[in-house]
Amino acid sequence: MDLKEKIIKLKDELDVTLVAHFYQRDEVFELADITGDSLELAKKVMLTDSKFVVFCGVGFMGESVKVMSPQKRVLMPKIACCAMARMIDEGYFEQNLKKINEAGIANENILPITYINSSAAVKAKVGQMGGMVCTSSNAYKIIEKGLESGKKIFFVPDRCLGQNFAKSLNLKSAVVGDGSDLKEADIICYNGFCSVHQQFTADDIDFYREKFPDILIAVHPECDPSVCDKADFVGSTSQLITYIKNLDPEQKIAVGTEFNMVNRLRSKNTYILSSTKPECPTMNETTLEDVYKTLKSIKDDNISKENEIFVSEETAKWAKVALERMFEV
Ligand code: 13P
Ligand code: SF4
Repeated sequence: MDLKEKIIKLKDELDVTLVAHFYQRDEVFELADITGDSLELAKKVMLTDSKFVVFCGVGFMGESVKVMSPQKRVLMPKIACCAMARMIDEGYFEQNLKKINEAGIANENILPITYINSSAAVKAKVGQMGGMVCTSSNAYKIIEKGLESGKKIFFVPDRCLGQNFAKSLNLKSAVVGDGSDLKEADIICYNGFCSVHQQFTADDIDFYREKFPDILIAVHPECDPSVCDKADFVGSTSQLITYIKNLDPEQKIAVGTEFNMVNRLRSKNTYILSSTKPECPTMNETTLEDVYKTLKSIKDDNISKENEIFVSEETAKWAKVALERMFEV
């Protein structure tokens, strides 16, 4: 039996759901029971009744499952941390809040919203302050809901997502620490970013438009505002997939998001919006061998602590509040 067959056999024998984000390697992705963008994965996994979840993605995704379904044992073949999520912890959150206070904005006038790409500890901080979580597919709704409070939004950790949604809602944004006027802004952004999506530039768009005048450009909102401004479509991973699948097969498109996903979308007329290969290093850490070993450890009752997600009760309590506020919206 090869590795793939062994994994299929173990999945049949065990009370387990195998989950994969769109950015996973093809060979891992194709064996998953559930696939999707961050929001879909969080929702779909909550509805499964299996005792074990083997999650192929990055750490914050597994943590969100554990927070929402603490009765499940959530295992990750590699607990790889999203580079953007790693840019903020509780200490940096507090430091930024202090800088906003120093600019003359008191905490009672601030509503924090965290992108789902953050640790459970950061989500808990946000939950304690009355804030909520958003993903790239529901950020409009969540930000609009947040603004109903009449407060300024403190958006963490992705500066680009905050700036892009502020622009599309005709709102003013500012970034903590870059000298911009925080008092004038409706959305105050933490200065985090995704190193993978920073690889796409406005010059790449010009290059493709010059080469193929009819080409369409579709990008993820983690790209810089200078890129999103020039694109024909901006959307989450799921939204990008739907947009691209509905195109005429002859329509050329250049896509600004992670390589694995774009590469499996369409064999023809689809280009990566970069001269580099924009692979997410942490998403790519999980191999078929890792998935097999994790499933085997369930079967042998020999699960390694290094593969299991644990969230303390207090953190989970408040992180769940922030996630539930998102689900309510
Ligand atoms: P999605 O929510 O669109 O799946 O994005 C997750 C992510 O990490 C993109 O870089
Ligand atoms: Fe994180 Fe960027 Fe990788 Fe998405 S692509 S998981 S934001 S590092």
